[in-house]
Amino acid sequence: MEFKDAMAQRHSVRAFSDKPVSDELLTELLTTATTSPSWSNTQPYMIAVAKGAVLEDLRETLPPMFDELIALAKGSKIKQIKAKLTNDGIPDGDFRPVTDYPRDLQPRRNATGHELYKLLGIDRADKSGRHQQMRENFRFFNAPVALFIFVHEGLDVYSPLDAGIFLQSLMLAATDAGLGTCAQGALALWRSPLEKHFNIPKHYKLLCGLSLGYEADETINRFKPERAPLEELLVPLK
Ligand SMILES: Cc1cc2nc3c(=O)[nH]c(=O)nc-3n(C[C@H](O)[C@H](O)[C@H](O)COP(=O)(O)O)c2cc1C
Repeated sequence: MEFKDAMAQRHSVRAFSDKPVSDELLTELLTTATTSPSWSNTQPYMIAVAKGAVLEDLRETLPPMFDELIALAKGSKIKQIKAKLTNDGIPDGDFRPVTDYPRDLQPRRNATGHELYKLLGIDRADKSGRHQQMRENFRFFNAPVALFIFVHEGLDVYSPLDAGIFLQSLMLAATDAGLGTCAQGALALWRSPLEKHFNIPKHYKLLCGLSLGYEADETINRFKPERAPLEELLVPLK
């Protein structure tokens, strides 16, 4: 595939078919992504690959945790304090999830969410419909493979920067091979369910997840959110 076509065709896939991804292809895609540049070639990231029984266990474990979290957020202050004290149902990821968006970024976030729910026919007031859609994150949108990206804590912002470059390489390689991907910050909410399956070095912190597989023919996959005009991204001259 031409580079420009891969760039144009990559989009976040939020519904995957049941078609499996072979181990050979997965290794090939990850190997391609290892050619990415990084700070002093330190490659300050590690990837946990979840498939088969491990993935199915996570697919069962995570959605009820998300349900509980939402119930807690809607529940009484007393319940929230209790949960915090006991760590019960509280996300135990390594990074603080983004909940309050900066005022200048909020309009872009709102426009994207609005467009997505409009396409899906989910009304603004339909909290249950939105919940169900968000919950799909924790089912990996039915993908046969989920990856979890960890970054070395010792390189400050450069570890996540390098991991981001790695992720984009991987997503483009997947597009080139006819596969779909969705990077997912949502999958960084909980670290403990991953500890059950993987030996994760303590100094590697969970940055995000990525679902990978073959795209299903579903409306949601036709979502193509607009980008800000280039001028908005250029720092003006004095
Ligand atoms: C770091 C990162 C985290 C993301 N987290 C999520 C997520 O948790 N759930 C989701 O559905 N999409 C997630 N996305 C996908 C973005 O919403 C998507 O990239 C953006 O809306 C642009 O759409 P496109 O990827 O289809 O071009 C994430 C993307 C990135 C790069």
